Amino acid sequence: MCGIVAVTGYKKALPLLLNGLEKLEYRGYDSAGIAIINSENNCISCEKAEGKLKNLINNINDHNIPGTVGIGHTRWATHGKPVVKNAHPHTDSSGNIAVVQNGIIENFQDLKNKLEEEGIIFNSDTDTEVIPHLIQRELSTLSKLNLENNGSTLLVAVRNVLSDLEGSYALAVLWSGAPTSLVVTRRQAPLIIGLGEGEFICASDTPAIANFTNIILPMEDEEIALLTPLGIEIYDSSNERQYRNPVSLKVSEQIMDKMNFKHYMLKEIYDQPQTAKNWLENYLIKNSDNGQYQINYPFDTKFFESIERIEIIACGTSKHAAMVGSFLLEQFSGIPSNVFFASEFRYSPPPLLPNTLTIGVTQSGETADTIAAMDMEIKRRSSIENEKFKPNLIAITNRKDSSIGRQVSNIIDICAGIEVGVAATKTFFAQLLSFYGLAIKFAQIKGNQSSEEIDKLINELKNLPPLLEDLIEKHNKSSEKLAHDFFNIKDVIFLGRGINYPIALEGALKLKEISYIHAAGYPAGEMKHGPIALLDKKVPVISIASPGEVFDKVISNAQEAKARDAYLIGIAPDCKGTEIFDYLMKVPSSNEWISPLLNILPLQLLSYHIASHRGLDVDQPRNLAKSVTVE
Ligand code: M6R
Repeated sequence: MCGIVAVTGYKKALPLLLNGLEKLEYRGYDSAGIAIINSENNCISCEKAEGKLKNLINNINDHNIPGTVGIGHTRWATHGKPVVKNAHPHTDSSGNIAVVQNGIIENFQDLKNKLEEEGIIFNSDTDTEVIPHLIQRELSTLSKLNLENNGSTLLVAVRNVLSDLEGSYALAVLWSGAPTSLVVTRRQAPLIIGLGEGEFICASDTPAIANFTNIILPMEDEEIALLTPLGIEIYDSSNERQYRNPVSLKVSEQIMDKMNFKHYMLKEIYDQPQTAKNWLENYLIKNSDNGQYQINYPFDTKFFESIERIEIIACGTSKHAAMVGSFLLEQFSGIPSNVFFASEFRYSPPPLLPNTLTIGVTQSGETADTIAAMDMEIKRRSSIENEKFKPNLIAITNRKDSSIGRQVSNIIDICAGIEVGVAATKTFFAQLLSFYGLAIKFAQIKGNQSSEEIDKLINELKNLPPLLEDLIEKHNKSSEKLAHDFFNIKDVIFLGRGINYPIALEGALKLKEISYIHAAGYPAGEMKHGPIALLDKKVPVISIASPGEVFDKVISNAQEAKARDAYLIGIAPDCKGTEIFDYLMKVPSSNEWISPLLNILPLQLLSYHIASHRGLDVDQPRNLAKSVTVE
């Protein structure tokens, strides 16, 4: 989604901004721009381009911009088409103020109407453009008070404008009247300040600053900061000056390296055995007293004892991981559990029930719907005095330094390392593992599962890494061949049942996201209630058939598809019953509980190779953003 980079200091701003923007490309965007206080005349020089960053770079190559203070932005269109006039930065009518913004100003239309009545002419269709005009109006009011033209005056002007803005945002503002200053602020959108060598660099996401520094000052919600080459002043929403110690970034987790892979997505699929090793190393610990394995989550799990039910809130792929998790928590650990789309939960939450654990799942930790839904749940539970209704919270995330990390103290860090491909692969896998850990923990605490079954599951988890390596190696080749035959299809149906139904949904989501082929996942037993009408020989059916409780049922459902001439692809071990498939993507035979962790890999690889064969931008598919920070 949109990305912000802003810099002030002693070094040339242009390369710093472009480097930062390049690191934000993975988040998804459709136009880009920069504004720099030109050191030759102290005026703002602004450049924008539609499409990829390279278009902006081509424009700038013709006239290099001198200056050490600047802002940059990658825009993912919300208000107005992805065209140059809507790209950020946006300026006031005089061109003396430039603003980049992430998020949405919800009351922009009212503000715009008022400004238009005052004679302001707008040049874009964005919500953002109201901000520079409002700041300009505020600065002219302040000038009547004889305030000096400096960063502090800009800070006051921006702060006064914030009280007019509704919505969530991160902002960076330049003013030619204070040519070394930069004002930045955030409300429910991320922004961090990096302390570089000779510059302060501010960004909406850590990779944009990881090349320059690993020392950061995270900004709290509703804070505003004035940055000059001489230092940083941070104020809270009551205008109290804030002092805090810088923290270190784990740079290794922020560095993006494609190695020798053609795309990040393929590299990240290949990372999954290591993801499993990391999880086993971090979270599966042998108790030296009794030799038993335990899940070592970094919080006191005593409160689990009183938990009677679980609600899980997530979006997209994270929701699919949550569905597998919910299945495990109910069927393996015996705790009632429900999963909700965060975007639905916000507006139609279920009635409050006592002794509930709320789990938020978000790899980025910034998904606006998930953060807002969690916030709402925290507030509505905190408003009840009865202890049984108090919020019990866990967040499962890849970014513990994110918004959800600040919102929730019990964090399961999935430790997957940065994921650059917009399509989630290794983070999905790591989220699944986190749920296996929770299911084991609950089963141990609640005693709803036999210790033999728990040990069996733990053993299968321990044995995963070599199986995964082998699986990826084999299917990388075979799915490339399969993709050759299928890259031109129009529709694909994915079927799964029980614990593998969410894997069918995830398989379909992966395919649509990166190949733009229509795909839908169904519980296999539901096909005959409607979707079967879609089937003919042009619609392949991918059926996940893992030996266990529902294996025979899935095979019967696949028979029904075959009878309608569908080409059948099976994701299954090579066992009796699977001869029905026209093509078998073999996975190792396993305990059914563990099967999602194996079945997802061939599906990821198949989607990857189909999209790659179609020559598409696999890592940055059209219209998508890596973290969706608007509602
Ligand atoms: O960062 P989150 O896990 O909260 O993101 C949720 C979804 O936006 C995300 O999973 C999306 O569906 C991905 N593009 C999936 O590949």
